[in-house]
Amino acid sequence: MDIVKQGKAPLYDAIKKYIKRDMIPFHMPGHLQGRGVPLYLKKLFGREIFKFDLTEIPGLDYLHYARGVIKEAEELAAELYGVRKTYFLINGATAGIHTMILATCKKGDKIIIGGNAHRSVIGGIIESGANPVFVNSEFNKEFGIITNVTPDVLEKTIRKNLDAKAVLITTPNYYGIQGDIKRMIDIIHKYHMYALIDESHGAHFPFHPSFPESAIAYGADMVVQSAHKTLPTLTQTALLHIVTDRVNTDMVEQLLAMVESSSPSYIFMVALDVVRREMALNGRSLWEKAIETADYARKEIKNMNNFKVIDKSVINGKDIYAVDPIKLIINVQRTGFSGFEFEDYLNKHHIEIELSDLQNILLFVIIGTVKKDIDILLDALKTVKIKESKIGKTVPFPKAGEQIYSPEEAFNMDYKLSLIDKAVGKVSWGIVAPYPPGVFILAPGMRISEETVDFIRMVQRNGGMVQGAVVQGKNIYIRVVKN
Ligand SMILES: Cc1ncc(COP(=O)(O)O)c(C=O)c1O
Repeated sequence: MDIVKQGKAPLYDAIKKYIKRDMIPFHMPGHLQGRGVPLYLKKLFGREIFKFDLTEIPGLDYLHYARGVIKEAEELAAELYGVRKTYFLINGATAGIHTMILATCKKGDKIIIGGNAHRSVIGGIIESGANPVFVNSEFNKEFGIITNVTPDVLEKTIRKNLDAKAVLITTPNYYGIQGDIKRMIDIIHKYHMYALIDESHGAHFPFHPSFPESAIAYGADMVVQSAHKTLPTLTQTALLHIVTDRVNTDMVEQLLAMVESSSPSYIFMVALDVVRREMALNGRSLWEKAIETADYARKEIKNMNNFKVIDKSVINGKDIYAVDPIKLIINVQRTGFSGFEFEDYLNKHHIEIELSDLQNILLFVIIGTVKKDIDILLDALKTVKIKESKIGKTVPFPKAGEQIYSPEEAFNMDYKLSLIDKAVGKVSWGIVAPYPPGVFILAPGMRISEETVDFIRMVQRNGGMVQGAVVQGKNIYIRVVKN
């Protein structure tokens, strides 16, 4: 890495220079660089931000036809991550996931998908018309968390589907639990398929040796990272990395121009440029501090009888190969609270967490988290009053059901609402996913199983949200294909 080059921020510099010219704006965006913005917004955001909210004007390049400063900024990101090409995404990792699928699978092609995939993967499959084959992901019973696909199970599925074009693996999961990504990529390549990796939760991995290794290091073909999840950048900013020369970048560029806005936010792109610079210059020391803070929290919580935390001891070399130290996963089962209830309890202590599930809460301890924040959290944990659990019987995360129609076919059929009690055996029309973490439990065209219905009921009963399920009063409905 060339540290002098990495110290530059070409897009930021170009915009600063442009603002200094004080041009008279006769162009979009409609706020005219803040001139027309309602006072209320000006007071809220200040003036400066509107000056940066520019459009594609001479000197500022085009995201979807990058030849100038955006290209330079993307090249610096590619150098930092050690890849052939990096594309800035302004519609989240979702846009990158859709692009990876559309660039490698045509209508009717087979694609193998890890069963812990985010709902955005199903969206990409609907768009492409591909036929998914789902590989079951392991489930950690102690914490009640879906983890990762194992290489052995993946290889068995590949051997039964040698005509598949691509394999899309999601790792690490939301909780920072990474699978054996090196072996999985080797297996995928042994069978000459594309290795597409959803590494949404790993944009920070290259910046500290204590983090799991990125799939980039193991030669995945394409890797998507949802930069805004863990890096100090803005919501919706993400990165698509092209690692190998097997990928047709011409096609990728065409697709990005289709799935993303044609009016990309310069505020988002500048944020990516400046955060890349920050990671190159100061990433190691900033993350060192965050890891120390997270380690302190874990050590203190381990000494409390009412909680368990996930740490390296869960590594088993199969579905759990590495754990991300900045994810603080606290199992609250012994308190009698569900994770959802515990989130409410922490909210009353002015603490906002990343997510809760039935048994756990997940907190990000990242750049900007300070020891004082952890001490307030520890106080709240220490003073919680134990109660009797109301969770009742728990059921594991459901396995993917049989695919009756391709997701695209099913999505183009008519649908009707079916009471959940009567849905078993019917075919799902939509995507259903408990949120967060957003891992799908039903894809369009999938047969609805009893275990899926039980799972939806359990999450709903305990105060969780299941996107795609329709709740009306006490009744829960699922959209099923009409036939
Ligand atoms: C594993 C995974 N992939 C993809 C996404 C989508 O990312 P984005 O919100 O950046 O579009 C998420 C979001 O939660 C995710 O958890």
